[in-house]
Amino acid sequence: MLRNALLYLSAQPTVFKFVRNNGVAKKFARRFVAGETAEEALDAVKALNAKGITASLDLLGESVHNEAEARASGRDYIRLLDQIRQRNLDANVSVKLTAMGLDISEELCISIMHEVLDRARQHHTFVRLDMESSEYTERTLRLFEQRLYPAYPVNVGIVLLSYLYRTAADVERAIQLKCRVRLCKGAYKEPATVAYPEKANVDANYVRCMQELMQHGNYPGLATHDETIIRVAKKFAAEAKIPSDRYEFQMLYGVRRDLQEQLVAEGYRMRVYVPFGTQWYPYLMRRLAERPANLAFIAGNIVKETVGRRR
Ligand code: FDA
Repeated sequence: MLRNALLYLSAQPTVFKFVRNNGVAKKFARRFVAGETAEEALDAVKALNAKGITASLDLLGESVHNEAEARASGRDYIRLLDQIRQRNLDANVSVKLTAMGLDISEELCISIMHEVLDRARQHHTFVRLDMESSEYTERTLRLFEQRLYPAYPVNVGIVLLSYLYRTAADVERAIQLKCRVRLCKGAYKEPATVAYPEKANVDANYVRCMQELMQHGNYPGLATHDETIIRVAKKFAAEAKIPSDRYEFQMLYGVRRDLQEQLVAEGYRMRVYVPFGTQWYPYLMRRLAERPANLAFIAGNIVKETVGRRR
């Protein structure tokens, strides 16, 4: 119920306007978002690299409204790839196709992605296509498979989500294509016609897809904070003799930092997804929906601020 309400609010621009001007929400956002500027995010990556953790930078911003905005997002990503290179950081980038104009025209989106991927190739780096809500799954995978992956096989990869019924088949397809997959559970509000409503089924499907990818896939990114699943992954790798450089664990900035560092200390590869930018509201609301207990933190701070002001 609360999860659904938070996911509904994540898509309301008028609520964002209100929240953006709220000091408590902004402070809370800083736990999950590395800052509003590229410089702040690159500093966060530097600190992660110093701990032996690699990163994937995400310039927050979802659907754009016109061609000029889409082209500006593409240029921002190209600048970001240059800055990563200039600062010699161990990081790649994650991109949403809607931020590159997918809702305006597929051809526009592809032309911008070619510019971004040309720069990624020049810098020998990698661009991950984030997966958005199920409305975009088919289009994202089709454009990836037919237009982007054939042209940039080592520079671009996808995300598959274990809450979708279709994902087991998509995993098999990705294995045939030998493309790189980040496996996640999925963060959007989806109907039971396309996604498992029960968490137990989402988790079981994650484990099935994860084991397929670990055994037959191309350097999968296992993106989860679920300690049980991480334990299963480690055990499976040990039993199937899969070396720890054949896959990586991935987590979100600000979530389970203890576990991130523990896995590095144990000799596993760890990449942290580092979001930044002014458009942090929908991202923050999805993180709250995953763990509504975080709301208690915000509520507690609002009470403290209100009481503080009255004194
Ligand atoms: P689950 O939700 O079961 O959580 C397991 C445990 O992790 C919780 O009990 C809690 O301890 C901790 N935890 C999880 N979320 C937390 C939070 N927000 N705050 C504090 N603790 C938390 N989704 C998507 O739809 N498209 C995408 O492209 C991506 N990309 C992506 C990249 C990376 C690197 C990660 C780690 C995740 C994504 N996601 C995503 C989000 C993903 O789909 C999923 O919503 C979250 O990772 C939460 O799921 P878990 O697998 O962590 O399990």
